[in-house]
Amino acid sequence: MRSKPIYIFLFLCISFLIYSFSIYLKPLSVKEDPRFDKKKASEGRLVWQAYNCQSCHQLYSLGGYLGPDLTNIISNPYKGEQFVRTMIKAGVKQMPSFNLADNEMNSLIEFLRSTDASGRADVRQFNVNSLGVIEQNEVK
Ligand code: HEC
Repeated sequence: MRSKPIYIFLFLCISFLIYSFSIYLKPLSVKEDPRFDKKKASEGRLVWQAYNCQSCHQLYSLGGYLGPDLTNIISNPYKGEQFVRTMIKAGVKQMPSFNLADNEMNSLIEFLRSTDASGRADVRQFNVNSLGVIEQNEVK
């Protein structure tokens, strides 16, 4: 009768070890976002930095304020990828034209696709409901 607690203790120790072991056997699941190519997007971030787009444009409302926020430009139904490509090539008003190589242009687009996939930058798309919870409006 006296030896009972030790069995309980041992049982718990062994359960703990088995459980921990099985947890660490599982590979860490980092889900790839299918909406963009991660490697190309990180190359695109370097292009974004090299040409200093941030000095005039914002991502998530942070950056320069000469040009508009570009976080969600890819999914904007009135703009989108082709529009961005054209703007960069042609330049407009205070924005100079950028003569990017094809792979630079493609990875820059992929970078903008990744910022687009990561969330919404426009605060007007959010409402605070009566419970104080922030809800996203229908994306227009
Ligand atoms: C010298 C400042 C400046 C720099 C640097 C700059 N832009 Fe611009 N960009 C502007 C301005 C200003 C506009 C808005 C022109 C207008 O619509 O009248 C603009 C517009 C745009 C637009 C169209 C946005 C829209 O919603 O109409 C895109 C896309 C864009 N820029 C991409 C880029 C990218 C990518 C880079 C970096 C390679 C870049 N810009 C660098 C100033 C700049």
